[in-house]
Amino acid sequence: MSENPSIALIGPGAIGTTIAAVLHEAGRAPRLCGRTAHPKLVLRHDEGEIVVPGPVLTDPTKIDHPCDLVFVAVKTTQNADSAGWLSALCDENTVVCALQNGVEQKNQLAPWVNGATVLPSVVWFPAQREADASVWLRASPRLTLPDVPQAKRVVEALQGTRCAVELSADFPSVAWRKLLQNAAAGLMVLANRRAGMFSREDISELTLAYLRECLSVARAEGAELDDAVAQEILAGFKRAPADLGTSILADRQANRPMEWDIRNGVIQRYGHFHGIPVPISDVLVPLLAAGSEGPG
Ligand SMILES: NC(=O)c1ccc[n+]([C@@H]2O[C@H](COP(=O)([O-])OP(=O)(O)OC[C@H]3O[C@@H](n4cnc5c(N)ncnc54)[C@H](OP(=O)(O)O)[C@@H]3O)[C@@H](O)[C@H]2O)c1
Repeated sequence: MSENPSIALIGPGAIGTTIAAVLHEAGRAPRLCGRTAHPKLVLRHDEGEIVVPGPVLTDPTKIDHPCDLVFVAVKTTQNADSAGWLSALCDENTVVCALQNGVEQKNQLAPWVNGATVLPSVVWFPAQREADASVWLRASPRLTLPDVPQAKRVVEALQGTRCAVELSADFPSVAWRKLLQNAAAGLMVLANRRAGMFSREDISELTLAYLRECLSVARAEGAELDDAVAQEILAGFKRAPADLGTSILADRQANRPMEWDIRNGVIQRYGHFHGIPVPISDVLVPLLAAGSEGPG
């Protein structure tokens, strides 16, 4: 690999635009690979705006060589449709960093990456796509990756940028903690409300009960998380700005497919696998699935 690794980013949406912008600021602009052509990307943050010159490429057959590092920031529901990009940009020397929610990124991307190493990450920052396709970054960008040798390529690419990268020796526990937060955020879809709804006493009780159910499943999968996590996650929602949404709520409101399976279905699936009762998931998951896919 050369001193200046070649970098590509698939999926220049809310999270993808953020990572493209911080790389661009550091002089390491990635190739932008998307579904919709854009002449540039715009990221709005607390101190101003970063404009990333385009174009956003839309034809994977125009890619003539694989890249050293590929960030994947499509929704997990869009993985299969991104197969052309993955296959053109990856070979066995590529490191693929999944900027996606869930705990299953490795297995989900493996079929399309030509033997590349897939690194999952936990994306800690909220970013919102606006009607004009610009992105509003609502917190400081921060990622956690597993502490494995291949993560060095991601750390070096993001070194000195606005995006902090932490490595964790117990990545599964960190990923499950974030998954619990995402799972609870799914309640916003059914209420069709943003974070302000967690100030209601009845919603707090429901959220805690659901998070305790999720915790049992997470522990059965090997995550080391204590009981306090449920209260901490609820407290986080209560502290959040009342108008803070979540990407699954944005998808519901725009009538797009939702990542219900990797955020909520996964708790139900693994619960059933381990023989753990998941009564709240058994109500929540079919409603989310029907909201996403219908029919009706
Ligand atoms: N947003 C957040 O605050 C947040 C926080 C933490 C984690 N996450 C996770 O991060 C991941 C990305 O979420 P997001 O909110 O950034 O999604 P998003 O804003 O919807 O961005 C997805 C991007 O992928 C593009 N895309 C769709 N299909 C494609 C294809 N076949 N080939 C290439 N590009 C394609 C979309 O293009 P179009 O312009 O055509 O739609 C869009 O630019 C998800 O797993 C999400 O759960 C999000």
